[in-house]
Amino acid sequence: MKRNFFDVLLLLVFVFVFQACTEPEPNIGDEPQHLFLTWKDDPTSTMVIDFHTVPEQEAKPVLRYRLQGDKKWQKAEGQSFPFPHHVLNVHRIELNQLKDGRNYEFKFWGYDRIYQFRTISRDFSKPLRFATGGDNLHHRPWMDSVNIAVMAYDPDFIVMGGDLAYANGDPENIFKWDTWFASLKETLISPEGRVIPMLVGIGNHEVQREFKDIMSRVIGGEEDQEAKDFQITEEMRLQYAPFFYNLFAFVGQPGYGVMDFGNFLSIVILDTDHTNSIDGPQLKWLEETLSARQGTQHIIPVYHVPGYPSHRDFNGKTQIRVRQHFMPLFEKYGVKVAFENHDHAYKRTHPIRAGEVVDKNEGIVYIGDGAWGQNVRSTHQDTWYMARNESYHHAIIVTLEGDHMDFKMVNKEGVVFDAYHIP
Ligand SMILES: [Fe+2]
Repeated sequence: MKRNFFDVLLLLVFVFVFQACTEPEPNIGDEPQHLFLTWKDDPTSTMVIDFHTVPEQEAKPVLRYRLQGDKKWQKAEGQSFPFPHHVLNVHRIELNQLKDGRNYEFKFWGYDRIYQFRTISRDFSKPLRFATGGDNLHHRPWMDSVNIAVMAYDPDFIVMGGDLAYANGDPENIFKWDTWFASLKETLISPEGRVIPMLVGIGNHEVQREFKDIMSRVIGGEEDQEAKDFQITEEMRLQYAPFFYNLFAFVGQPGYGVMDFGNFLSIVILDTDHTNSIDGPQLKWLEETLSARQGTQHIIPVYHVPGYPSHRDFNGKTQIRVRQHFMPLFEKYGVKVAFENHDHAYKRTHPIRAGEVVDKNEGIVYIGDGAWGQNVRSTHQDTWYMARNESYHHAIIVTLEGDHMDFKMVNKEGVVFDAYHIP
């Protein structure tokens, strides 16, 4: 009797496991609504893959992936959560223990299309290339054109310095995120299906307008210690910048962070008074982060509001705070170039140190100013710090090889209109 009971139990377990393993994969469609690739950890061995689906599609946070050329697929599972204020579901899957410098193929559970991604090589004697810019979406054809211009350079990844969809954290602007993600899906995937990973920073248009009152309290006056001690919580950031903090695994909370490519490159993403005070805990973190990377070949800060603006007033409050607090640390720890955004024009400064133009290799060059897809603005004429400025839509193509940094500025027609290199 006892034997029979265990036999039946074993059979039931076997049937359950067999069913679970052979659950038929539905045919939901060719592609999900949106997809987005980024890194939270080592870009040579990991990848974070998000995809967004409508509820009717009954998608699961599951994908299959394999090294290009392998026959056998591996399965990976992640988590699902709601796209804030939208009908869509977000599915996030983190892949680890990948081989460096290799192409992988992947497909989502229930969908047909096979995509690719490429991990970063640990052999940093090879050139590493990324594109950067900001202020993406006003007129989708402009954003698409700059995306297409960037793809001609086969970048390893893209860094966006804030003001992505211009949704202002507002549920009524959810359609702008649909447009932003559609632009990525249609123009930032190579003909072979390679999806370009992206690192994103925060801009003023990621945050609800009401939050400005809270921020002005936090920033406070010179003597306002109570305001300086005011704590912005994770919950507040999620409430007032719901899309930025939910939709992107990196930079994530608290809104600033660093991505290390071995000890060859560190991209330092900062928050210019949007959800973190420039001179609050972020500044202490910045000093510790830069100090801990003194053996790193290239340290490149990327942030939204320019310390050396091309359109706005040099004496604007945030501009002054960027120069006063961030820039002395950049100078102390050997930064050679920083990328700024927000002004919707192109600028490249002379090398600057301690607020003065200095010889090449003695100062920092600031390149920006965020005109990927926004209306371009007029620029200052004959400003002392400006080496070049233009009212062009553009992206900056950065190629790093050894200690050499090469910059090509490409406009939305795909024309290189400015170039610079260090040393
Ligand atoms: Fe902005």
